Amino acid sequence: MSPTLLMPIRFTGPHLPDPRLVAVGNLLAVLDGSSLDDALAKMPPSLAERDRALAAELSYGVCRWHARLDALIGLLLRKPFKRKDRDLGALLLVGAYQLLHSRVPPHAALSTTVEGTRGLGKGWASQLVNGVLRRLQRESGSLTARVDADPALRFALPNWLYRSIRDAWPAQHQSVLEGLQARPVMALRVDLSRVERDVYLQRLLVDGIAARVHPSVPSALLLSEPVAVERLPGFGDGEVSVQDAGAQLAGSLLDLRPGQRVLDACAAPGGKTLELLQRAPDLRLTALDIDSDRLRRVADNLARAGCRAELQVADASDPGGADWGKRRYDRILVDAPCSATGVLRRHPDIRLLRRASDLAALACRQAAILDALWPLLAPGGRLLYATCSLLAQENARQIDGFCERHPEARVLELPTKPGIRAGGGVQLLPGVDETDGFFYAALLRAGAS
Ligand SMILES: C[S@@+](CC[C@H](N)C(=O)[O-])C[C@H]1O[C@@H](n2cnc3c(N)ncnc32)[C@H](O)[C@@H]1O
Repeated sequence: MSPTLLMPIRFTGPHLPDPRLVAVGNLLAVLDGSSLDDALAKMPPSLAERDRALAAELSYGVCRWHARLDALIGLLLRKPFKRKDRDLGALLLVGAYQLLHSRVPPHAALSTTVEGTRGLGKGWASQLVNGVLRRLQRESGSLTARVDADPALRFALPNWLYRSIRDAWPAQHQSVLEGLQARPVMALRVDLSRVERDVYLQRLLVDGIAARVHPSVPSALLLSEPVAVERLPGFGDGEVSVQDAGAQLAGSLLDLRPGQRVLDACAAPGGKTLELLQRAPDLRLTALDIDSDRLRRVADNLARAGCRAELQVADASDPGGADWGKRRYDRILVDAPCSATGVLRRHPDIRLLRRASDLAALACRQAAILDALWPLLAPGGRLLYATCSLLAQENARQIDGFCERHPEARVLELPTKPGIRAGGGVQLLPGVDETDGFFYAALLRAGAS
């Protein structure tokens, strides 16, 4: 529960943006195809910090539960809203989220949502909104039982995604779905070249920040509550970074050695780039990303920790005549663009944005990047393929397809702590491994290293 929602609701009045209406705007932007991150970045600058946190919390929460909330409200409306009034539909979702998933007192959730109709200039709908939310409050038990009879709705997933996850992980799917639905844990990566994890943990505890070690990732700490990064000792100079425990494994799975030449082909925002640089001294690392704005975040990340790499805006599937494409690398990391189905807890808007039809195109992009970079791997070199997907099409089947096209590639067996074997790779599962959902596979090019 966000601390924001434990505080009494304060009405901001007509001259300040109402955080609930800002959340309505964010939700409409996501429904129109924007990412929630982009929508949050465009919130009105006049929004006070506390209201900004509330608007963000409501936006994340409604995205996390969208399909289920929408189905519940659908049971209570005689007919759906016309397109021009879909802001009222979004307002109802924000109200329903507060009623069912927050500690906002129900009377406050009701009154502020009803008041929101006037904020939208649609006071005529106040009775309707009041009636729907009061019924939801009164009949929540029977209404949720009806909606939850459909397991996809129970986990607020589109049907195709629910079925894909269930079929991919029949034994674990219940835990995985619950893990995806949970609020994300804030995980830290300690730079073990500078400080021991247990020593850093003690520093956190002394500062009143509750945390524990991750059961199987040696550099990872899990915080009991999210905190502002400024409160983390040593954050400013890179002693510690915010990074999911599952994402912290790239350097060890790459088996990095000092001084190696490394290509980090899909690098932004640079979480793994920094981990590689901090793990092995004197790497000659080239970090690519196709998106120049995102690549700037890699530069910021490295600058914080005083690390250096060559940064290039480039399409990894087209080495062409670029300098980076003429070199041979000892290690290549392909942290590929993917469905992001393993990180739904951190990016709940993906539930609304991802379509089943995206998968084939993503798998093609991944294959194109792998095929283009394979010739750049030096003999004896290792390529690590990573996704934050739970789906075999982007993971085990992608590696199978690659090995059929490149019989000279050898798949290396990776450790399964955390994770379980998945074809030629290892799958980390949310709700099982205390990580986001990740897939890793390592490919070796024959020859002397
Ligand atoms: C999963 S993210 C990488 C996360 C990053 N490795 C980290 O740990 O912070 C995938 C990245 O691939 C980039 N990307 C997508 N297609 C690409 C391409 N053809 N060439 C290079 N980068 C690409 C995206 O812009 C995105 O930043």
